[in-house]
Amino acid sequence: MANPPVIAIDGPSSSGKGTVATLVAERLGWHLLDSGALYRGVAWAAIQRRIDLDDASALEAMTRQLVFEIRPGNIHIDGIDVTQAIREEPISVGSSRVARLKPVRDALRIVQVGMRRPPGLVADGRDMGTKVFPTAELKVFLDASVEERARRRHKQLIDKGSSVSLCDLFASLRARDERDRSRSVSPLRAAEDAVMIDTTEMPISAVVEEVLGHAAERSLTGSGTRRGE
Ligand code: C5P
Repeated sequence: MANPPVIAIDGPSSSGKGTVATLVAERLGWHLLDSGALYRGVAWAAIQRRIDLDDASALEAMTRQLVFEIRPGNIHIDGIDVTQAIREEPISVGSSRVARLKPVRDALRIVQVGMRRPPGLVADGRDMGTKVFPTAELKVFLDASVEERARRRHKQLIDKGSSVSLCDLFASLRARDERDRSRSVSPLRAAEDAVMIDTTEMPISAVVEEVLGHAAERSLTGSGTRRGE
């Protein structure tokens, strides 16, 4: 039987991919994979266990044993709800450090591929279209100016009650982008066959409609129900 269809949505931090992927998955009634949450989860678990974020073999062994439960809107690791904890800024920085390590990526790939279930999957991240789901039926690459992305991230954190300066956030976002783009394994880049969308001046609703339009052109339509939930 053919694999369930995948829509891969990649892009840099705060390009809008998480929100767009969530809304597209809701509209189609498909499953959602926020792959960044897995890398954040690995960084969170490593910090809890005081594992060095550069120790590839210890991180690999830990990652292979973690039990991830991912549902729309929340993520549990080994039974602990880490939904909020993984969004803190130190975890953002830690996640892009552990994401450079191939053994960690290989261990998480198994979790990601396992989420490809009927009626379909919307997966967001950095390498969904290039590495994890290279045969995805639709690949989208979202981008926005670094200034706009820093403003979006700042608003998100302020709305959640965190206090962080826009200036610090701008620097941290640039450093994280640089690490994600320049690493040797699965660097952040658009797949050759990806549809490119610059979201700098677009409202989220327009981006969602554009992605759904490309999905409809490829006959990717909603079933309205996600099986297994
Ligand atoms: O998407 P988000 O910002 O939550 O991802 C956190 C970090 O996880 C990114 O900065 C990136 O280093 C890493 N990541 C990755 N590959 C993915 C998703 C996230 O390397 N597919």
